[in-house]
Amino acid sequence: MIKVGLIVGSLRKESYSKKVARLLAELLPEEFETVFLSLNELAIYNQDFDDEGNVPTAWIKFREQAKELDAVIFITPEYNRSVPAVLKNALDIGSRPYGHSVWDKKPAAVVSVSPSKLSGFGANHHLRQSLVFLNMPVMQQPEAYIGEIGQLLDDDGHYQNPERTQAFFKTIVDGFVSWTKQNLSK
Ligand SMILES: Cc1cc2nc3c(=O)[nH]c(=O)nc-3n(C[C@H](O)[C@H](O)[C@H](O)COP(=O)(O)O)c2cc1C
Repeated sequence: MIKVGLIVGSLRKESYSKKVARLLAELLPEEFETVFLSLNELAIYNQDFDDEGNVPTAWIKFREQAKELDAVIFITPEYNRSVPAVLKNALDIGSRPYGHSVWDKKPAAVVSVSPSKLSGFGANHHLRQSLVFLNMPVMQQPEAYIGEIGQLLDDDGHYQNPERTQAFFKTIVDGFVSWTKQNLSK
């Protein structure tokens, strides 16, 4: 089994990004186990907590869960042309203590989601910048910019036009499956 983490950069109950994450997970083949990592309880990173051995329980749980993953799909909205703080915070927490990053060498994909036509391009590429430093091989093609999401899904998170949208999502997942197999580090 290849364990794939789905990490969503939105805490919102009705988040479009969460809905996209669920649809992408459904398309993964059976040999891929999916784990949705929650960012809800993660306190903002403060190095004192690590240095003084006062590590929040939610950080410990998140680090343990992320360590177990073989690969990660990040599905994120864009906030002010960049990565939502909650997702950057999760990356920072997972990257420390120094030398014990949970991200190292894990294949990844970035999917940006937006109600606008611009498709979260800024968030997508700011996130890639951090992932390069974190030594995660990030899928380059197909690029996954999902714009006008309000027109692609209905209120319950189902496809409005399954033929077209599911086929597009499948190209992302198929690309990620072969990328992961090529880049698995163990
Ligand atoms: C603080 C804030 C900043 C935002 N900035 C952008 C932006 O730069 N680009 C964009 O496409 N949408 C922006 N939006 C709108 C979000 O794309 C929209 O709220 C979206 O539904 C959030 O994703 P979610 O549905 O997964 O929670 C912003 C929303 C918030 C709350």
